[in-house]
Amino acid sequence: MSYPHQITSLEQYHNDYRRSVEEPAIFWAEIAENFYWRKKWESVLEWNFIEPRIEWFKGGKLNITENCIDRHLEKLGDKPAIIWEPNNPEERTRVVTYSRLHKRVCQFAQVLVNNGVKKGDRVCIYMGMVPELAYAVLGCARIGAIHSVIFGGFSAQSIADRLYDAQAEYIVTCDGAFRGNKDIPLKSIIDDALIGNRTIKKVIVYTRTRTPVSMLKGRDVWWEDEMEYAETQVEKDNIITMPATEMDAEDPLFILYTSGSTGKPKGVVHSIAGYMVWTNYTFINTFQYKPGDVFFCTADIGWITGHSYVLYGPLSAGGTSVMFEGIPTWPDAGRFWDIVDKYKVNILYTAPTAIRSLMSFGLEPLKGKDLSTLKVLGTVGEPINEEAWHWYDEHIGKKKCPIVDTWWQTETGGVLISNMAGVTPAKPSWASLPFPGVLPLLVDENGIEVTEPDEHGYLQGNLCIKAPWPGIIRTTYGDHERCRANYFSAYPNLYFTGDGALKDKEGNYRITGRVDDVLNISGHRIGTAEVENAINMHAGVIESAVVGYPHDIKGQGIYAYVIYNHMHVDEELTRKDIFQTVSRVIGGIARPDKIQFVPGLPKTRSGKIMRRILRKIAEGETENLGDISTLLDPGVVAEITKGKL
Ligand code: WTA
Repeated sequence: MSYPHQITSLEQYHNDYRRSVEEPAIFWAEIAENFYWRKKWESVLEWNFIEPRIEWFKGGKLNITENCIDRHLEKLGDKPAIIWEPNNPEERTRVVTYSRLHKRVCQFAQVLVNNGVKKGDRVCIYMGMVPELAYAVLGCARIGAIHSVIFGGFSAQSIADRLYDAQAEYIVTCDGAFRGNKDIPLKSIIDDALIGNRTIKKVIVYTRTRTPVSMLKGRDVWWEDEMEYAETQVEKDNIITMPATEMDAEDPLFILYTSGSTGKPKGVVHSIAGYMVWTNYTFINTFQYKPGDVFFCTADIGWITGHSYVLYGPLSAGGTSVMFEGIPTWPDAGRFWDIVDKYKVNILYTAPTAIRSLMSFGLEPLKGKDLSTLKVLGTVGEPINEEAWHWYDEHIGKKKCPIVDTWWQTETGGVLISNMAGVTPAKPSWASLPFPGVLPLLVDENGIEVTEPDEHGYLQGNLCIKAPWPGIIRTTYGDHERCRANYFSAYPNLYFTGDGALKDKEGNYRITGRVDDVLNISGHRIGTAEVENAINMHAGVIESAVVGYPHDIKGQGIYAYVIYNHMHVDEELTRKDIFQTVSRVIGGIARPDKIQFVPGLPKTRSGKIMRRILRKIAEGETENLGDISTLLDPGVVAEITKGKL
């Protein structure tokens, strides 16, 4: 059995692609028929990339939770929506059926209402990967509150910045989170973020680790107490009712902060209907999901991949989604394979960095694990090297599972370029073909379309998209100009992805990596400017420059060149101090892998740091550093090269 809007042959792909380009309004109206609307849309698409203004399914009324939960209840009420695997494999698994999910989401929506949350309010969610995180996210969506999930690896300072930017008044958190052998004190980090804060009205705290936490009277409330009370409100005679708020198609669904090339992270805003249609359509087509399949996406819900493919995509399709609290290497490096075996996972979606890390443990952790239920494998977040691709193919997929290499971004809502499992051809380390509705274009620095192939016969350029697809970013929260300047101003009338790409004669795309100052560390986006700002906050640091360098496991590592004011100090200790500062300002995920103390930085006469040179040195290049004659002080290059770590 397949879904009515599932693409099941290569021929159909080409046909649908053509129709999506020639008659987008008709094409997407047909796709949108597969959802539950309180009221149908008046126009399918209105847009311009100048302001930008993008409106999909305008005039339509709906609630995304009715599409993700209520409409499945009759047929799938007893079927698992979420299968939860705890951090500690000895702890009890939790299976959340669609009926149970409905009840919990209604209850939590009521909790939000009881605590004063209204449609349009921003609710910040800072939790570990527990089912309650899903209830919190969907509970917000049910009453039209805008959720903003923050990944557990961000520091108090980062949270404070995001709370301020989103003007959030409510927080949902846990006492703590289990991750491997660590116990992360989430509530205590929230408390630090709230020092001096006067805008947060309520903090709802779910008990997970039973770590002692401070609870401020009037502000902090326990999840358990609130849920118990709400249960009496939403449940009468075994019937659960908590009406979903009717929303406009273009009302915002969530804010998710992501790094760009300049300054502080931006709050990417997605709106309800387009995002719903896009995550659902890409979910069923990329992975060729069939009703009953068990889908395991290993991403944390703190990132876009978790939003789109742990929650909204699978749930809108009535699917079964495995949610994993822990990490792939604890208690041992066989954890993913245990999970596949235990829940008979059919589709596994993970990041190249996880594959490379698991590869490094050899084949021992695979012994005795039954992976025969797997049908499809996927990767996301960074380019996958051929070695990792072949290992995944041979040892996990046993050469019988198509691998989908999915390219997309926080801003795109869901997959834009990927093969469709078993339907369109795979090409190792190539994301391959664009989805229907996606019109990629490669341009040179001047925005001119690249038409001349390189010596391998590939077109090479900066990857842009010519027209909106339903899941495209609508704005950056509170600052629309920032959205325009970041994505729509580099090249007129184009959405600029920030990535470079190659295109072969068959029309396949290979993403080569960011062409801006954004790093991709273990599949996580971090701006070099952000890390530099954090390092520069450390007392004694005069200036710093951060670049990426190739890292065997993480894909990219963070290399920091730092000018420090008194070099007689203990270098190792100073390095550790700087790590601490970065962890405080951004969080552990932005901790540099290498810090080299340097006497100066290569600058042009106008004071611009020549990152190209620093990147080459970090990559291990000593000779061919290009033209350094335009530098203010060319001598500094030799000194930096000498001290390379
Ligand atoms: C990179 C993650 C190569 C790319 C969904 C993009 C990829 C950034 C791939 C977005 C892929 C993502 N191949 N590179 N299959 N997928 N990227 O916002 O540089 O966390 O711009 O979204 O990751 O990262 P983000």
